[in-house]
Amino acid sequence: MSQSPLIEVKNLKKYFTQKSSLFDRKPSPVKAVDDVTFTIEEGETFGLVGESGSGKSTIGKSLIRLHDISEGTIKYRGIDIHNKSKKEMRSLRTKMQFVFQDPFSSLNPRIRIGDALAEPLLDHGLVTKDRVRDKVKEVMEICGLPSYHIDKYPHEFSGGQRQRIGIARAMVMEPDFIVADEPVSALDVSIQAQIINLFKELQEKKNMTYLFISHDLSVVEHLCNKVGVLYLGSMMELTTRDKLYENPLHPYTKALLSAVPIPDPTKRRERIVLKGDIPNPANPPKGCKFHTRCPFTEDICLKVQPLFKEVEKGHYVACHLV
Ligand SMILES: Nc1ncnc2c1ncn2[C@@H]1O[C@H](COP(=O)(O)OP(=O)(O)O)[C@@H](O)[C@H]1O
Ligand code: SF4
Ligand SMILES: [Mg+2]
Repeated sequence: MSQSPLIEVKNLKKYFTQKSSLFDRKPSPVKAVDDVTFTIEEGETFGLVGESGSGKSTIGKSLIRLHDISEGTIKYRGIDIHNKSKKEMRSLRTKMQFVFQDPFSSLNPRIRIGDALAEPLLDHGLVTKDRVRDKVKEVMEICGLPSYHIDKYPHEFSGGQRQRIGIARAMVMEPDFIVADEPVSALDVSIQAQIINLFKELQEKKNMTYLFISHDLSVVEHLCNKVGVLYLGSMMELTTRDKLYENPLHPYTKALLSAVPIPDPTKRRERIVLKGDIPNPANPPKGCKFHTRCPFTEDICLKVQPLFKEVEKGHYVACHLV
């Protein structure tokens, strides 16, 4: 029964070194991701949430090796992807795709959509030249883009359609894993629902696995099976969607959730307003990284970093009070 997970991330660290000034001899690294561990099962959607700058995109990019990592391991189907040569990675890469927040910026304005979708297919030798147009049309239709748009240019599409193109660009490669980084954050709310439904449909039809990144817990709720809450490069809470929304245990999760409206008017969440801004990740607070903003801070929180521990089956929390 126990199959290995599709994605297995262990003690992942990614530090960026930057000089802040000319006289800065020993620059302090930005600990963008600081010892993060989680798994994603096949066919599952893992939601990664947290404020801007918490390290979400860095994790997403590390997972498909869009950049190198500082420490730890990332396995895809048991294969340590950061230990593979560029050549070995090339064939693996088709299986792992990335969908950006703004697909427009990654599309060449002078290239027709059909050609943009055909290019990676031909490049990787996945279909022959005479088959490629049919394949592109097929993927366009699956992604809700009428195939008669095949000869249009990017500017001729609406925001929602452009995100469909972004998703089609990932789907043409027939991946089984997609990192979607804030894919609906730039869209109107009505369009957001359509794109989220498209992700769901593709998952059902093609058994896709997703890492779905968002700063907005209400977006993640409708799509994810599991959710991880990130703060300053560390995982604060990680559990199933149902447990997280019904019984959030970490003060940071509680604060984020308190801002999400509940559809049931008989229920209310107590609004927790966080004080201050997210601290500088090059110089994070000692002890619990959240202590400068937590409403429940105690002495121990200033000195000792809480362990990320399993407090009930499948529910992990890093807080001294839980
Ligand atoms: N290429 C880079 N060089 C230096 N610092 C970076 C780089 N990419 C990200 N960072 C820093 O790492 C931290 C996490 O960034 P990011 O992963 O983009 O967060 P998020 O996606 O949650 O907004 C931020 O402090 C950011 O400034
Ligand atoms: S460890 Fe302390 S500061 Fe950190 S979240 Fe828990 S109560 Fe708040
Ligand atoms: Mg980001």
